[in-house]
Amino acid sequence: MEPQLTALLAEARAAAPALASRPEFEAFKARYSGPKGAFTAVMKTVGALPPAERPIAGKLINQFKQHFEALYADTIARLETAELTAQLGPAIDPTLPAPSPTGLLHPLTQARREVCALFRKVGFTLADGPELETEWFNFDALNTPADHPARNEQDTFYLPDSTPVGNVSRHANERFLLRSHTSTVQIRTLLREKPPLRVLAPGRTFRRDNVDATHSANFHQVEGLCVDRRVTVVDLKAAVDYLVRGLFGPGAQTRLRPSFFPFTEPSFELDFSSPDLGRLSNKWLELGGCGLVDPEVFKACNLNPDEWTGYAFGFGLERIAMVRAGIDDIRHFFQNDLRFLRQFA
Ligand code: FA5
Repeated sequence: MEPQLTALLAEARAAAPALASRPEFEAFKARYSGPKGAFTAVMKTVGALPPAERPIAGKLINQFKQHFEALYADTIARLETAELTAQLGPAIDPTLPAPSPTGLLHPLTQARREVCALFRKVGFTLADGPELETEWFNFDALNTPADHPARNEQDTFYLPDSTPVGNVSRHANERFLLRSHTSTVQIRTLLREKPPLRVLAPGRTFRRDNVDATHSANFHQVEGLCVDRRVTVVDLKAAVDYLVRGLFGPGAQTRLRPSFFPFTEPSFELDFSSPDLGRLSNKWLELGGCGLVDPEVFKACNLNPDEWTGYAFGFGLERIAMVRAGIDDIRHFFQNDLRFLRQFA
């Protein structure tokens, strides 16, 4: 009897690891311990043995019964663990870093913050003004004559007179518009604060420009204004040198090209070049306009031009971000393609 039981147990132990479900397990158990099972059949033969052999056979049967019960318990425990794991899904390690980033800053936001951080270090504060403005703030106070081409409806977005405008008051009876440059904030600051002052005004601007790789109808500028006594072009040059070196590397240089803006005299276009700009290295690139504040602007803001002097600049923020990141098309900034934006994380 013992060799027979040993063989049965060995067979059951060999088959158990392949069982993959509870129905398979129940069939397996019945094959050995069910009413017609192989182990049950051996058990039944004990009764037919001579009485003297029965106690030894009974003891043997009990031992093997325990082995079978242990095998069943192990197998069902393994199947239950597998079921639970399938319900829970793959194992999670909560100490790993989160799989998706919480977000990232748009390259224009990064550029704006860098410019602001640089100027904050040298005593500038941030100034703001409305995007919806009046002709007076956008043009008249900035000494821009009525027949200046920038005032043309082909260049500037004007709003219908019936537009309900709650928070911008008119100076006289002039039209409302979307500001075409951040120089409006020069006027708002000069009317609000007493010089000496140094402000930086980053913001959104609008023009009826045709959209192409370097122009958008909706773009951003960063305006700088410094008003004090005896400010000269040397101060302007020092400020723009400081900016381009901070943004484009310590080897960056600037060049002031004579130009014209109604609100500065003299006026310049600012070009810069740097050896650290990849394929744009050592090329002269335009950043924006600048100059010394025109006396007419001080007069419009009730300041004495014999007492106060100043410099101002207005640079394209997209231009700064494009050069820094080697982006060749301004439209990438506004298309919101995450594959593009994620490169600047
Ligand atoms: C001005 O807007 C003047 N207000 C700048 C200024 C301020 C001069 C203070 C003097 C003193 P301009 O029109 O050149 O200047 O624009 C300045 C910069 O804005 C340009 O060099 C360019 O970088 C950017 N810019 C202008 N138009 C667009 C456009 N449609 N799309 C993208 N960027 C533009």
